[in-house]
Amino acid sequence: MRTLLATIFLAAFTQFAVASESGLKLMNAKVDLHDKASLQRGAKMFVNYCVSCHSAQYMRYNRVAADLGIPEDVMKANLMFTTDKVGEPMTVAMRPEDGETWFGVAPPDLSVVARSRGADWLYSYLNGFYVDATRASGVNNLYFPGAAMPHVLWELQGLKRAVFATETTHDGATHQVFERFETARPGVLNEVEYQRATRDLVNFMVYVGEPAKLVRYALGIKVIGFLCIFFIAAYLLKREYWKDVH
Ligand code: HEC
Repeated sequence: MRTLLATIFLAAFTQFAVASESGLKLMNAKVDLHDKASLQRGAKMFVNYCVSCHSAQYMRYNRVAADLGIPEDVMKANLMFTTDKVGEPMTVAMRPEDGETWFGVAPPDLSVVARSRGADWLYSYLNGFYVDATRASGVNNLYFPGAAMPHVLWELQGLKRAVFATETTHDGATHQVFERFETARPGVLNEVEYQRATRDLVNFMVYVGEPAKLVRYALGIKVIGFLCIFFIAAYLLKREYWKDVH
C-alpha cells in the first residue's frame, strides 16, 4: 500500500515537474466551438499559413465545409490549394522528406495536435516566437525552446525580442527567467488583432482534433430539451396517479 501511494505521489510530482519545467504559465486560449465565424476565419488561416508544411490528413475539405457552413464552391475557390477535390483530406503541399531536409524535423500532422498539446499550449506557442540569432530560422519559441519551425505568422505579428532576467538560486546556480517581450518590428496586426487571429486558428485546430464535438454539442442541447419536456410530462403523470392514493 505504501509503495503504491509513493508511486502515485511520485507520478503526480513528476507530472508537475514537467508541467512547470519552463516556469511559464500558459496563455488562456478561450476557444469557443460555437463561434462559427471564428472557426471559418481559423480555417482560412490554416490553409493559408499552415498546410504548406503541415497536413491535417484526418480531415476532409467537404467535412470542414459542411460543419462550418462554408458553401463548397467558396471552399473550392478560396480555401483549397493542395487539391481540387472537395472529398480529399487536407494533405500537405510538400513532401515530408523535403521537410526533414529543410528543417531537420518533418513538420508533424496537425490533426490531433490540439488534443495532444492542448488549446492553451497551441495558443501560447503561436504567441511565443521571439528573435534569436543563434537559431537557423532566426527565431526561438518560449513554449517550445529550440523548435525548428520558423515564425510563419511574423508578417502578421511582427517580431518580438524576449527580455530575460538572470536569477540566482540558493545554491548559487544562475538561470534565465523570461521577463517580457519587446517589439523588434511591428506587424500588420496589432497585439489584440494578432491574438484574435491566433485564437481563431487554435479554435479551428480544436475542431479538427475532434469534429464530432460540434455534432455532440447540437445533440446535447436536443437531449436536454427532451429531458425537460419529459420531466414535466412525468411530473404531471405522477400527480395524476397519486391523486387517488392520498
Ligand atoms: C515552413 C514550414 C512550416 C509552416 C508553414 C508551419 N510549420 Fe509548424 N512546424 C514546422 C516544423 C519543421 C515543425 C517541427 C518543430 C520541431 O519539432 O522542432 C513544426 C511544428 C509545429 C507544431 C508543434 C507540433 C508538436 O506537437 O510538436 C505546431 C503546433 C505547429 N507546427 C503549428 C503550426 C501552425 C498552426 C502553422 C500555421 C500557422 C504552422 N505550424 C506552419 C514547420 C512549419
